[in-house]
Amino acid sequence: SAVEKGNYRHFMQKEIFEQPTVVAQTLRSYVHQANNTVALPQMDFDLSTIRRVTIVACGTSYYAGLVAKYWFEHFARVPVDIDVASEFRYRDPVLEEGGLALFISQSGETADTLAALRHCKAAGQTIGVVVNVPTSSMAREADLLLPTHAGPEIGVASTKAFTCQLAVLAALAAHLAVKKGRMDRAEEQEVVKHLLEAPAALNAALDHDEDIASMAHLIAPARDVLYLGRGPDYPLALEGALKLKEISYIHAEGYASGEMKHGPIALIDEAVPVIVLAPSGPLFEKTVSNMQEVRARGGKIVLISDAEGLLEAGEGCLATIQMPKVHPLIAPLVYAVPVQLLAYHTACVKGTDVDQPRNLAKSVTVE
Ligand code: G6P
Repeated sequence: SAVEKGNYRHFMQKEIFEQPTVVAQTLRSYVHQANNTVALPQMDFDLSTIRRVTIVACGTSYYAGLVAKYWFEHFARVPVDIDVASEFRYRDPVLEEGGLALFISQSGETADTLAALRHCKAAGQTIGVVVNVPTSSMAREADLLLPTHAGPEIGVASTKAFTCQLAVLAALAAHLAVKKGRMDRAEEQEVVKHLLEAPAALNAALDHDEDIASMAHLIAPARDVLYLGRGPDYPLALEGALKLKEISYIHAEGYASGEMKHGPIALIDEAVPVIVLAPSGPLFEKTVSNMQEVRARGGKIVLISDAEGLLEAGEGCLATIQMPKVHPLIAPLVYAVPVQLLAYHTACVKGTDVDQPRNLAKSVTVE
């Protein structure tokens, strides 16, 4: 049956709002409810023998992979190599024994990612696939198939598939950590507990829809926008910039907060909004000093943080968006919501075609 927009103006908007439901749905198939441990599909290889993970993807799926790199390294202490598929397949990557090559794709059909998968398969890598379409080409060629249960995604700019990918990747990282002897049962249960907090936190983030809609009027006139983030939230800065470019046609760049002084700071003036993604925590102070560098140059900041962070650094910002206080593990899922909504509402203010942005395709099946 055809997917309908229901009461929403756009598929993208509907898909943003579906996230609490589809992330919960996805998590349900990756968690043993009885004891809060990770449940993965049956596999005919031993995950404990994996010595390296190579992640390959395109677009928004690639940014999910970038977040996962932090998790795999932090939890499982397994080194991770990650690249966009179009670079990976032609750069003669070193693929050694004991390698898990992990492909992330909403469609499971992106030509570059599929070609990279076949390259890794021929090189003897174990093939893991995180896909939203279980009947896709990538799904069929996987040794380990990890489906996301986001349901059909119609909007060209990916939203709900991304947060579901993150949920699956977090579960995989925890499972790998257990198999590698880096995580005990209690720690695993702790991770699962935090993952299960994601749907409610996504709902709390969605509650700020109207604030973000009014803030979009501040962003819409800009010619350039900068997004900053740190650690596992750095890829969210990249994703925020990608979303804004894709659907509102405003030039945007995502940067690691600490890297701003190595270039983009030259662009800062009162006309360039700087959107800072910074949950409170050990790295928050560092980001606050990056914000001071922006302010000292007349830059205008939109701070996205929790109550604690806003209390500490919200004053003097052009605008703020309050997120719930969450465990750092799920912050990348939760902070996806404001960057998606900000892009969405900015595009609405500009009157662009949100679901079918110019020049873009939902699934890029040509090289
Ligand atoms: C296209 C879409 C993006 C998507 C990317 C990767 O560029 O417009 O939203 O992130 O392809 O697609 P995949 O299906 O492989 O995740």
